[in-house]
Amino acid sequence: MFRRKFSTCTFLLLLFFFFTLFTSSMSLSQSQSPLAAKKKRMRDKVRTMFYHAYDNYMAYAFPHDELKPLSKTFTNSLSELGNLKLEHLPQHYNGSALTLIESLSSLLIMGNNTEFERAVLWLSANLTFDADARVNLFECNIRVLGGLVSAHLLASDSSKRLFQGAYKNQLLVLAEDLGKRFLPAFNTPTGLPYAWINLKYGVMENETTETSTSGCGSLILEMGALSKLTGDPRYELAALRALHKLWSMRSSLNLFGTTLDVATGEWIEFSSGIGAGVDSFYEYLLKGHILFGNEDLWRMFHSAYVAVQKYFRYGPWYHEADMRTGRATYWQLTSLQAFWPGLQVLTGDVIAANSSHREFFHVWQRFGVLPERYLLDHQMLHPTEKYYPLRPELAESTFYLYQATKDPWYLDVGESIINSLNSYTKVKGGFASIKDVSTMQLEDHQHSFFLAETCKYLYLLFDDSFLLESNYIFTTEGHPLPVLSTWHERLPETYFPTNWTFMKRQQEANRISSMSLQVCPAMNLISGHHIKSACHIPDARSDFRCMTDEDCGVDSTTCRRRSCSTAGYCGLWLLI
Ligand SMILES: *[C@@H]1O[C@H](CO)[C@@H](O)[C@H](O)[C@H]1NC(C)=O
Ligand SMILES: *[C@@H]1O[C@H](CO)[C@@H](O)[C@H](O)[C@H]1NC(C)=O
Ligand SMILES: *[C@@H]1O[C@H](CO)[C@@H](O)[C@H](O)[C@H]1NC(C)=O
Ligand SMILES: *[C@@H]1O[C@H](CO)[C@@H](O)[C@H](O)[C@H]1NC(C)=O
Ligand SMILES: *[C@@H]1O[C@H](CO)[C@@H](O)[C@H](O)[C@H]1NC(C)=O
Ligand SMILES: *[C@@H]1O[C@H](CO)[C@@H](O)[C@H](O)[C@H]1NC(C)=O
Repeated sequence: MFRRKFSTCTFLLLLFFFFTLFTSSMSLSQSQSPLAAKKKRMRDKVRTMFYHAYDNYMAYAFPHDELKPLSKTFTNSLSELGNLKLEHLPQHYNGSALTLIESLSSLLIMGNNTEFERAVLWLSANLTFDADARVNLFECNIRVLGGLVSAHLLASDSSKRLFQGAYKNQLLVLAEDLGKRFLPAFNTPTGLPYAWINLKYGVMENETTETSTSGCGSLILEMGALSKLTGDPRYELAALRALHKLWSMRSSLNLFGTTLDVATGEWIEFSSGIGAGVDSFYEYLLKGHILFGNEDLWRMFHSAYVAVQKYFRYGPWYHEADMRTGRATYWQLTSLQAFWPGLQVLTGDVIAANSSHREFFHVWQRFGVLPERYLLDHQMLHPTEKYYPLRPELAESTFYLYQATKDPWYLDVGESIINSLNSYTKVKGGFASIKDVSTMQLEDHQHSFFLAETCKYLYLLFDDSFLLESNYIFTTEGHPLPVLSTWHERLPETYFPTNWTFMKRQQEANRISSMSLQVCPAMNLISGHHIKSACHIPDARSDFRCMTDEDCGVDSTTCRRRSCSTAGYCGLWLLI
């Protein structure tokens, strides 16, 4: 996602890490080898988990969508995703090999090129989307289109030497076929897409016009990439138009609701937070900016991010608020919120990310896994949402925070997550979701995102060699898309400074961060040059000492410049 080239902010954190590594090289070099041994041991453990999930899927469920690990059978669940009342289920639908599609990039990341190739060939020969099945546009986009587009980019990357260079774009053909089937959903008065589309027949008669913010605001990565790859601009334009429409519906506080009507463009649910129904909307504004260099998306993200921090954040927690008044509505931790610290790492807000991540992990420790909903005001489980469906978000944030800080504590978190998954959710036939975290009763479902995301982020936490070869961002479903300068509308030079090996030595670059500069744009006017934000200054670490004010950057929540005390501490206290 953000290695070398793109995230200058993250990457400056990495620089900082090397700086501390350098200054305290004695103690760190001594711990190097046990650390390396631990990483290898844990990586192998994750690999075993992935194959346990994958091999059981292949044995008992493939080519259907997902595995039922307790009964060792399958479910054609693509049409059930997001379909809470299980309406309009297809009569003759045999599945789309969903879990296989979702596993493609994980197979490559774990170095299994032969299985990747075998899977690609099977899909090219056998997958068809000409099915009379009503699917959720958002789910189908992030899982199927994202899985195919990402795998296509990997398959056609000549440095990976797959198919002996003989890959014939079969996955792109499939992706384009699917993308075309998405287009009728956007044919609404507002340009906001219907939440549901029948793959064969388009939008169904009397289809609901209700959708969620993430449902129509998290399409740009996959559909934008499809346009770049095919040269057909319709996908990107449709996704962008929906995003701009959604943006125009923000409140005066720059807040959004959770559900809306695509025919009228009116909000239905005015309360929202950073979790279910909204999460990936924020994520795609930032990641869309990174992948396509689109400045509009950055501006939108920046305003939306500041509003979130202002109205939803309470210490390390995030509650929900009414978009019209900013007044808090629900004081709940939902497990999807755990992705937020990972996103914050990309913006450079590492200190805030660290503090939320820690609290979320404490809840994980208390229950053994992260419950779907936890009532912060009563410090108890939500009465009906006690499940844990093998979700990846905490592992994802742990991975990002480890990349940014290299603090080995995050490896311990990863180990603890892995141990929980193995002791509570592993069964003979795969990995089962947890129905109730207070009893650890299991449910007969292995979600495809366990292979696409949970295993992948845990693996990358302990072995990130895949990221050393090129620069990726991950979609909200964990599918890597390379950050390519040819896809950038405008190329902020700091995004592509040079490669990682080189940057380690380039001390000068320490000062520059376009990301943090944009989080605090006013600083550019004041100082006239690039300043790094507080994210780069781990003043929570006792071993850091600044030399000059410049080392201290700006505070990322107040955007005020920080300075260096005579004792070598960064802070706001010396400021006006
Ligand atoms: C689904 O599978 C059944 C049994 O193999 C087959 O008879 C049927 O034609 C398939 N349906 C579709 C739509 O392919
Ligand atoms: C790749 O995956 C297949 C299927 O799980 C397995 O049989 C094979 O051993 C794997 N190869 C490697 C190199 O891991
Ligand atoms: C397509 O599916 C059939 C049935 O599973 C299988 O026999 C065939 O090998 C598949 N084609 C490829 C190229 O894998
Ligand atoms: C759609 O709604 C109209 C009016 O309520 C109704 O007459 C028609 O039968 C509905 N069509 C379907 C396919 O449900
Ligand atoms: C994260 O928070 C913990 C506890 O407050 C602190 O010890 C640690 O240094 C922090 N790490 C970073 C990178 O801010
Ligand atoms: C990385 O940068 C170094 C120094 O400029 C250069 O020698 C090396 O070839 C670069 N590597 C890649 C993969 O671009």
